[in-house]
Formats: sequence, C-alpha cells, structure tokens
Amino acid sequence: MEVTLNVKRYDPDSSKPAAYYQEYTVEVNDTTILLDSLIQVREQIDETLTLRCSCRAAICGSCAMRVNGHAVLACKTKVMELLPKSGNTITIEPAGNMPVIKDLVVEFNVFWDKVKAVKPWLQPQGPPPQAEYIASNEAMQHLVGVTGCIMCGACVSDCTVLEVDKNFLGPAALAKAYRFVADPRDDADSVRLGELNEYGGIWDCTRCMQCVEVCPKGVDPMGRIMALRDKAMQYGYQNTYGARHATAFTELIKHGGTLDELRLPIKTYGMFNIKQMVKLIPIGIRSQLKGKRPPIFHKAIPGVENVRRIFKKVENKR
Ligand code: SF4
Ligand code: SF4
Ligand code: FES
Repeated sequence: MEVTLNVKRYDPDSSKPAAYYQEYTVEVNDTTILLDSLIQVREQIDETLTLRCSCRAAICGSCAMRVNGHAVLACKTKVMELLPKSGNTITIEPAGNMPVIKDLVVEFNVFWDKVKAVKPWLQPQGPPPQAEYIASNEAMQHLVGVTGCIMCGACVSDCTVLEVDKNFLGPAALAKAYRFVADPRDDADSVRLGELNEYGGIWDCTRCMQCVEVCPKGVDPMGRIMALRDKAMQYGYQNTYGARHATAFTELIKHGGTLDELRLPIKTYGMFNIKQMVKLIPIGIRSQLKGKRPPIFHKAIPGVENVRRIFKKVENKR
C-alpha cells in the first residue's frame, strides 16, 4: 500500500532557514522498516533528505527519531505499526531535546555531556588486582539490563523534564550512573550518590515513564533512577526535598491509608520554611476557589490497619 511520510525538514544553510514539513509517498508492505523507507526517499526521490544511520540492526543507536510524537529507532520499527487508526500519513521529526543540525539529524553533544557528567568509568579503590577485578555472575547478570543501552537518545528525546529543565541529567545518563553504582567493582558509590542527589539529579525525575516506553532496549531508565533514590537514602542522603517528599509520602499513606495532600508539602518543605510556605498560598487559594482543597483534618480510611500491615511486611523484608 501507499504511505505518506510527512517529514520535518530544516536546513540551516538555506536562504530561509525555517523548519517546514514535506510529504513523500512510498510503497510499503507488512515488513517494510521505517529506515528503509527513508533511505528509499533519499535514494530515489530527494537526495537532500538528511538522516543518520549506520548498523540498520538496532545496535549503533544512530537512527532515533520522533514518529507521530514519540521516539523510535527507525531501523527497528515497521512502517505498518506506525500508521494511525485512520489515514495513511506518518509524521516524522528529529529526536527532541537536542538541537537539530539538519532534517532528522540532531547534535549529540548535549547527550554526551550529560553522560560524561556522571563519570561513566569504574572507580575501584586500593591497588589493582594481580589479574582482573572479580565480580559475581549474579551481579553482572543484574547489570545486563542496563549495559544493553545503545546510547540512542530516544529516552532523552521524550523526557518531559528535559523539555522544561535542561539542567536535568536525564534518563540515559542516570541509567549509566546506576550501572556504576550497582557494579560491585566500583568503590565510589557514596560520592556518586552525593553528586546525583544535587539539583538536576535523581530527584528531578517526575516518573512520567516516557523513557521506559520509548527505550528500544528495555533499559528501564526510570526504574534505575528509582533504584538510585533508594540507594541514596540508604547512604544517608535524606535531607533533600525529593528525599523528604518520598519519606513524607510513605509516612502519610502508612498513617491514613490515602494521601493527606495538605500535609505532604508541609512535611516536605518543613513548617518553618517560610519562603516555600508562602509559595504554596496561591495554590491553596486556587484549590479553595475550585472546590479542590484537601480536607484540613484527613481521616484514615476504614481498614487502615490492613495498609499498615502491608507496610510492616515490606519493612521486615528489607
Ligand atoms: S520518567 Fe523521569 S527520566 Fe524518564 S522520561 Fe519521565 S521525567 Fe524523564
Ligand atoms: S536508555 Fe534506552 S532509550 Fe535511552 S539511550 Fe539507552 S537504549 Fe536509548
Ligand atoms: S541504524 Fe543503527 S540503531 Fe538504527
């Protein structure tokens, strides 16, 4: 069947360097891969179309781009899977959160700078071993999920926090940081976690799950970030808004069975943090006006003891 590829074009060297969309019609069947269709366009219809690819086998990480608003690896995705419910047009754009160089090619320095910032190398202490550093099979098996990252940038492209805060380290870099924190041969956990605890680090993720959904290798960046949060708290890094928010959230659910939304920010920021308390006043007024202000006295749900029993069970397992 015929499919229309609606491609976002941008050429900084043109006389009018503004992005625009251009349509190309290609013939596809059930097995046609998106990257093959784009290469076909470049070779047979428009040689100026610029894209990046190399292995064509989901290994090199070169061909991430946005299709219908979500990042995919073009060489791992069938065109037919991308067709909307009605119509036969697919919109293809460069990966997000990175500057566009030309058409579907983005500048990866932003990505690599963040990966480099987490010091992605082993930092063992003491004299080097005679032969090699030993790690158990179990430990290395655990790391396989995260070492499978091919640095394609799909997760960075769709990270909702990076859209608004370029200081955030982002999913790929934080997954890489986890890879070293969880490696038994690395002895810099405490320092690493202290750095990741800062602004732009593990507590800035909003758990939107976009990175999990678009990762073509099942790395589960958000899961790694949550694991880093646990580790940071175990290492005693508990005095950040993020850590206090997590602790308060847990305590409030344990106490009442549902979240006491009024006390959550108070416990997170501290009652005497006047600056933050003042910032909450407009939110309080707006929620009052919309009839959404949480009750001042939060009642525990019936059967809350069952919730507390679950907490106890989990705490005893730790
Ligand atoms: S879960 Fe966190 S890291 Fe992943 S995309 Fe959302 S905000 Fe970004
Ligand atoms: S975590 Fe997944 S999506 Fe992100 S760079 Fe690695 S392979 Fe790509
Ligand atoms: S071309 Fe290598 S991952 Fe797609």
